[in-house]
Amino acid sequence: MTNTVRKKSPTTPNPAAPKPARPCVALGVTGSVAAFKAAALTSALVKAGVEVQVLMTAAAAKLVQPQTFQTLSRLPVITSLWELPDWKPGHIALADRARVLVIAPATANTLAKLANGIADDALSTYAVSHGGPLLVAPAMNPRMWRNAAVQDNVRRLRERGVRILGPGHGPVACGDEGDGRMLEPEPIAQCVLAHLAVLDAGVPAGAGRRIVITAGPTHEAWDPVRFLGNRSSGKMGYALAAAAAAAGLEVTLVSGPTHLPPPALCRFVPVESAADMAAAVRAEFADADFLVMAAAVADFRPAQPAGHKIKKTAAGAPTALPLTPTEDILAAVAAGKKPGQRIMGFAAETNDLADHARQKLRRKKVDWIVANDVSRSDIGFGAADNAATVFAANGAVHDFPKMDKLQLAARLLGLLLG
Ligand code: CTP
Repeated sequence: MTNTVRKKSPTTPNPAAPKPARPCVALGVTGSVAAFKAAALTSALVKAGVEVQVLMTAAAAKLVQPQTFQTLSRLPVITSLWELPDWKPGHIALADRARVLVIAPATANTLAKLANGIADDALSTYAVSHGGPLLVAPAMNPRMWRNAAVQDNVRRLRERGVRILGPGHGPVACGDEGDGRMLEPEPIAQCVLAHLAVLDAGVPAGAGRRIVITAGPTHEAWDPVRFLGNRSSGKMGYALAAAAAAAGLEVTLVSGPTHLPPPALCRFVPVESAADMAAAVRAEFADADFLVMAAAVADFRPAQPAGHKIKKTAAGAPTALPLTPTEDILAAVAAGKKPGQRIMGFAAETNDLADHARQKLRRKKVDWIVANDVSRSDIGFGAADNAATVFAANGAVHDFPKMDKLQLAARLLGLLLG
């Protein structure tokens, strides 16, 4: 414990401080059949403690009743520029409150209006008044999405820093198949929450830098139907990817098998085993600035995986499973890192957390080790929250108390980019 500077995280809650107001998000709903999915998005954001002010275009209000959103958000829905509850024009009053504007679904018409600054209804007028991040989830027929004017509008919006979420690939309502499906409400909600977390934590802008993040468990095949795995849910790594994308970094998420949807705004590289993950990390990190190894990589794998399903025999089940160590990806990649590349590892511990974490910091020669106590059921594997102590190679120690994994992800990014 000598020569360490123990820093108390600025996020340590002050019990005397008044409870902060709910962050406000403006949600624009436009006239695509996917408008019904915006109801689930509203609900997910409200459940996460966000005040959601819904604005609907006239076309959206023909597809889904404003009453639906009013009930879910517990706020009147804005459908017109001419209903003024206050002396201040509604769009200006909202611009004072809303930290993020998300438009989901966004039609080709809305993209064109946004690209050209057209303000002819409540939502488009609000969009030109809004000062914070603008997230747009397009939804349209694949032929419309491929249209040159639509693509040109999307390019212009991207160049201006607008975050284009998706669209996804697959069947669309009219039966065609291709790019044009609105992303599902869950990754859109996570992306909105990640933007709020990054704003909250004051994370420096990461634009122009590349980060590789690993997440989830690895599965080590024993035979074609059985594997060795672990309890990692992937939540921490996915939260890091969402927060890094929100901070403007170019993100590649290398993920072992999880039940989570790929985060928006990230390049997604799914892998199975530790060997697959090692190959993907080497390829992706070659020209990246940061690596964060949040994955729970298996330390051992079956020494001789069978090519066929292992059967019960007259003699009964096999009684031993010979194992062989996997490669330590973090240590190997850190040993070959280029000047300027920074690496953050994790340490999942059940006891003697600080000692083990410091040993890992030295042994693996990384810039930071994020240590968390996986013996606690309220944090760590599978939980929504996490708490961590970060040990830096320069001797600094940062304590982060229990908080939502997205909030912790934003704090960790603050260390990386700080
Ligand atoms: N890690 C890795 N490759 C492995 C095992 C772990 O890259 N084969 C990385 C993890 O992603 C994490 C860090 O190393 O960032 C520490 O992982 P952890 O499981 O806590 O430690 P181990 O090195 O496996 O040591 P032990 O199991 O003895 O605690």
